Amino acid sequence: MTEKLPVWIDTDAGADDAAALTAACRMERLDLRGVSAAAGCMEQARAFTAARGVLSLAGREDVPVYPGAAGPLLRSLPERPAGHESPDLTGLLAPSAAPEETLPAWDALYRAAKALDGALDVVAIGPLTNLAVAFGKYPQLPGLLHRIYMMGGAAMGGNITPAAEFNVYTDPHAAQAVFRSGAAIVMCGLDVTQAAYLTPEEAAEIGSRETRFGRFFRESTRSLPRFRGRDLAPGLCLHDLCPVLYLAYPRLFTGREAGVFVETRGTVTLGKTVTDLWSDRPFPVKNTFVVLDVDRDGFAAQVRELLERD
Ligand code: RIB
Ligand code: CA
Repeated sequence: MTEKLPVWIDTDAGADDAAALTAACRMERLDLRGVSAAAGCMEQARAFTAARGVLSLAGREDVPVYPGAAGPLLRSLPERPAGHESPDLTGLLAPSAAPEETLPAWDALYRAAKALDGALDVVAIGPLTNLAVAFGKYPQLPGLLHRIYMMGGAAMGGNITPAAEFNVYTDPHAAQAVFRSGAAIVMCGLDVTQAAYLTPEEAAEIGSRETRFGRFFRESTRSLPRFRGRDLAPGLCLHDLCPVLYLAYPRLFTGREAGVFVETRGTVTLGKTVTDLWSDRPFPVKNTFVVLDVDRDGFAAQVRELLERD
């Protein structure tokens, strides 16, 4: 029997986060040790309630959810552009009956990482504020993690500005702290998440199931745009599924080692993840594996296998 992988998920509870959390709960290989709520798609308290509700819907009220930072390290939560608001999942979920954890995310994550002594993987699918706070309070934490699989950034492009992706843009200072921390990072940026789309028909299939999750998926993704990329091709990008699928099915993806650092002072480029992938002036370190492409059909088939289960 393949050994289970201990995993921690830090989430800002968007609709794609919910799909990623549910997929993680259904992967036999993953041992979900804890979840922490981040401010991003919505304020932290709402993300905390939503994450608890998603785990309850997945039948996993045994997985503790910890409260995170109220907002980014040095700035306020950015407004989501019209048409890109994140649905408030709390209205679609029954409240969890699990006891409410009060230990802050950074203390709970450190406790779990220390107990696992280098085996814990972190899937970060929101702004990186909680991780940055944890690394600031526990400088040895980056070396106590196996890897960080993040959804965020982009070698090319942006979805909240032309230069930046939402998670990194929301807290660029936290993202910079994580890229500088020495932790082993796998970055699933927009480069791969916009290639890892579901066709409208595939998304409709998942949402057509008359199960509690099928109905939730239909309602939670209803308002998400069904087009992507520069050519506005049809497709539903559930970005946060990528790091979760990469963790368990890495052969579906390809990428390259690179140096990645974050613009924290720019006006036009604030929050841009700058990579040396296509530069003859490389950064001094290759601190990140940047995931650049995916076997889309294989990805979609695996996502449907996980999300269409009764
Ligand atoms: O840019 C996409 C990311 O921003 C996803 O994690 C989505 O949930 C939002 O947090
Ligand atoms: Ca997210």
